[in-house]
Amino acid sequence: MPIDPRYSRDAAWKLLTEWTASESLRKHAVAVEACVAACGEAEADRLGLGGEEREEFLNLYATTALLHDFDYERHPTPEEHPFVGVRELERQGWPEAMRTAILGHAEYSGVPRTSHLAKVLFACDELAGFLTACALVKPSRSIADVEVAGVRKKMKDKAFARGVHREDVIKGAEELGVELDAHIAFCIEAMKKRAAELGL
Ligand SMILES: [Fe+2]
Repeated sequence: MPIDPRYSRDAAWKLLTEWTASESLRKHAVAVEACVAACGEAEADRLGLGGEEREEFLNLYATTALLHDFDYERHPTPEEHPFVGVRELERQGWPEAMRTAILGHAEYSGVPRTSHLAKVLFACDELAGFLTACALVKPSRSIADVEVAGVRKKMKDKAFARGVHREDVIKGAEELGVELDAHIAFCIEAMKKRAAELGL
């Protein structure tokens, strides 16, 4: 089936921007999308998906990433985020796989990350934020100048990007079954391809 326009990337973007005025939160959504969608492409290759099936699969990855924090600006507390957002997604009829993955990206929800999508979202969320922070301290402010070794070094610097939970970055790669350096390199490449959009 072709993608239902109600659940397309355009629809996700519209919902995200309706709820989120902050430019940095919107950029965070796109940075996570870049990484999650790239992981989705690799998984679609592995599964041998093509045609509409592949399109639908990739649309789910992209829209889930775009919407994972869409309620955060209005409902930032752990009592409400991402639960309020997920209720709204359910009301609008977004897929269950998306909603379960979004619940799973919040450790405190207690919802296990069993699907590849849920694991990927968790493995990319904090990392995309961290890579953005790493780019912004470069003189060029560009993701093109971010390297794995530098990222690993900054992960050990507790004063740097203090809001990013290093243990989630490490755990995320572990759950996904990928080596951390390889995952970091993969996400840097994914963000480089969307650098203009990310302003990095
Ligand atoms: Fe996030």
